Parts: sequence; structure tokens; C-alpha cells
Amino acid sequence: MDDPRNRLTRDGIRIYEANDYAGMRKAGELAARILDEIGPLVHPGQTTAEIDRRIETMVDEAGATSATIGYKGYRHASCISVNHVVCHGIPGGKIPKWKNDPHPRADDTLMDGDILNVDVTVIVDGWYGDSSRMYVAGAVKPYAERLIKVTHDALMRGIEAVRPGNSFGDIGFAIQSYVEAQRMSVVRDFCGHGLGRVFHAPPNVLHYGRPATRETLEPGMFFTIEPMVNLGRPETKVLSDDWTAVTRDKHLSAQFEHSVGVTETGVEIFTLSPAGKFFPFAS
Ligand code: MF3
Ligand code: CO
Ligand code: CO
Repeated sequence: MDDPRNRLTRDGIRIYEANDYAGMRKAGELAARILDEIGPLVHPGQTTAEIDRRIETMVDEAGATSATIGYKGYRHASCISVNHVVCHGIPGGKIPKWKNDPHPRADDTLMDGDILNVDVTVIVDGWYGDSSRMYVAGAVKPYAERLIKVTHDALMRGIEAVRPGNSFGDIGFAIQSYVEAQRMSVVRDFCGHGLGRVFHAPPNVLHYGRPATRETLEPGMFFTIEPMVNLGRPETKVLSDDWTAVTRDKHLSAQFEHSVGVTETGVEIFTLSPAGKFFPFAS
């Protein structure tokens, strides 16, 4: 795991080599292709368990490994976070009732108007590709559509701040200032992370912050940016299953995630959609 070819910064951030980008590209492309291909599966009446099964099959068929199966006791190839679930929704788990649900549900079946994040992490030749995006089941409500667009644009503004000499605080500031100007809120309780030949490594990539603070970006740094944006308040809580994170006020939440690398001149996105379906709706 500790490859002597890669040096660490003072803050413990690994600096990868020029050849390592190819490994990240392959892993990122698989994660993106899987997210492209599940689009048509998302519709009212579908279950999150079935979407996850199809993801696991695609990972297997690619000869890759799921990074999440067996990770800290997690048992699924994806996280599927519906409506006010912020992240780490468990496929097959009962979908919790959010503010505007007409009635509680018994199971994991999607209903018309649901919005959901699907998050997939794969390992290809030892490299990790981690990406998530939003889908909608049936007809999306205008306020939900706006939340999804703002969340996507927040991620892209964060990515635009990635270049050597900028800082992680610049990324957080780009995201937070945009989201709050739209009168939405940024989740503080979860963050992006370094990755590469490991799933979660330093630094914590915060989606809020002040310009020119925190670590300086250098070529060879690989990490995710994965802002979670809430229509209401930023506070979250984790349900008794120990995974599912929800908004405390039960208003909607959305998230997009890319794995990126800092290059000599800017940024490379490893998890770009081969079909151009990252946004708007993958389905
Ligand atoms: N893919 C998630 C991330 O973006 C992590 C999921 S860990 C799991 O970091 F165990 F919940 F799957
Ligand atoms: Co991640
Ligand atoms: Co992820």
C-alpha cells in the first residue's frame, strides 16, 4: 500500500506519479460507465435492491472489485440515497419518510417524483474510482430539479478551483459561496477524500471554507469532491442502521461526486461520463 515511489506532503497527502493517472482513468471510467448504464433502471416501481444487484453484476462482468462490499461491514456495491437521505442509503433498506411523502412506505420501492443519488466505487488494477450522481423516478418537482442543478453546478465550481497553487479552502469556498447564494445549504458532516490505491486517504475535502486556507494543491494529488446540498438546514443524523444519513429537518438533499487529479495546468476528471450523461438526468 505504501509505495515508496510516491512521496507524502507535510499534511500526509500522497503525490502520485505521471503514470498513475492512467490507472485512475480506467477505474474512473468504469464507475462512470456503470452510472451511465443504470439510468434506464430508475423509474417508479423499481427497487433500490434491484439497482444495486445490477451494479454488482456490472462490476463483476468488468473483472473489477466493488470497494464498498466488505468496507467497514457495508454489504452492497452502491449507496442509494433517496429524497432526504443525504448519503450512505442502503440498497434494499426501507426508504425513510421525508417531509412531502404522502405516507410512509413499507419497502425500497421508488415512487413517482423521488430523487436519488447512486454512489459507486470500483477497484480496477488496484486503483479506486468513486463517483455519484442524481437520478429521478418519473416526474421531478421543480424545486427538486433546482436542487439537483445547484448541486451539480456547485461540484463543477469546486472542480474549476482545482489547479496547482490554489488551496483546498478555495474549493470549499467556491462550493459554499455558490450554494448559499442560491439559499440552499452545504452539509458539514461528510466530506470528500483523497483516494488512489486506497479508498479514503488524507485530506478531508471540505465543501465549505475560506479562500487561501488549508493545504495547497499540487500536481499528483488525487481526491474526490462530493458536495451534499440541502434545500433546508445543513444538519444531518445517522439512522439506527448506522449508515443512512438523513437531513434532520426532512427536507430534500442532493449530491454529485467526481474523482479528480491535479495536473500541471489544472485538473483531470477521472469519472467523466463516456456517454455525457452525468447531468442533466442520467435516466
Ligand atoms: N462512495 C462513498 C464515498 O463517496 C463511500 C461509501 S462507503 C460505504 O466516499 F460503505 F457506505 F459504501
Ligand atoms: Co467519495
Ligand atoms: Co462515493
